[in-house]
Amino acid sequence: MRHSTLALAGAALLFGSAMASARGDNAVAPDAKDEVIAGRKAAFLMSAGIFGGLKAAVDRGDDVKTLAFPTRGLARWAAALPGMFPAGSTSDASEALPVIWTDRAGFEARAAAYAEATAKLADLARAGDKAGFAAQLGVVNGTCAGCHDTYRKPK
Ligand code: HEC
Repeated sequence: MRHSTLALAGAALLFGSAMASARGDNAVAPDAKDEVIAGRKAAFLMSAGIFGGLKAAVDRGDDVKTLAFPTRGLARWAAALPGMFPAGSTSDASEALPVIWTDRAGFEARAAAYAEATAKLADLARAGDKAGFAAQLGVVNGTCAGCHDTYRKPK
């Protein structure tokens, strides 16, 4: 009984580390690199479009409950972001800096802050909290810049 419990715990640990390494240590297949870069660049553009739409809605004084759907999409993208940066996914077409892979923990911390900020934004939209939503949108904006400052090529 004790041994099988230990074996299970060991298997869970092994599985856990396999999951962790799948996020940043596994290299992208060379023939898939351009597609991964194009996919994340498109997603970043769409996320910026959503962000601009949220800002405009706040400026108009819209009911933030109507923003629950795009906000949830933004939160899902934020949570998926690290997986869009497999090792080796760099090219001249990409603005990603190599420090994403040499300081993976720092990059993932920035992504986690973004995911947390957008999840909270989604909660505030669902709750219809207009003032809270407006303030939290500023927090989200800070998490974009907080990552770009270090991990994206300067313009
Ligand atoms: C955890 C880091 C991180 C966060 C958070 C982040 N970005 Fe980025 N962003 C990047 C990186 C890295 C690139 C470059 C990707 C590439 O070119 O391969 C990028 C690229 C972009 C681009 C350029 C897309 C293109 O046309 O090539 C836009 C626009 C953008 N981000 C907007 C945003 C907005 C808006 C937010 C917040 C709502 C945000 N980003 C949050 C890291 C981040």
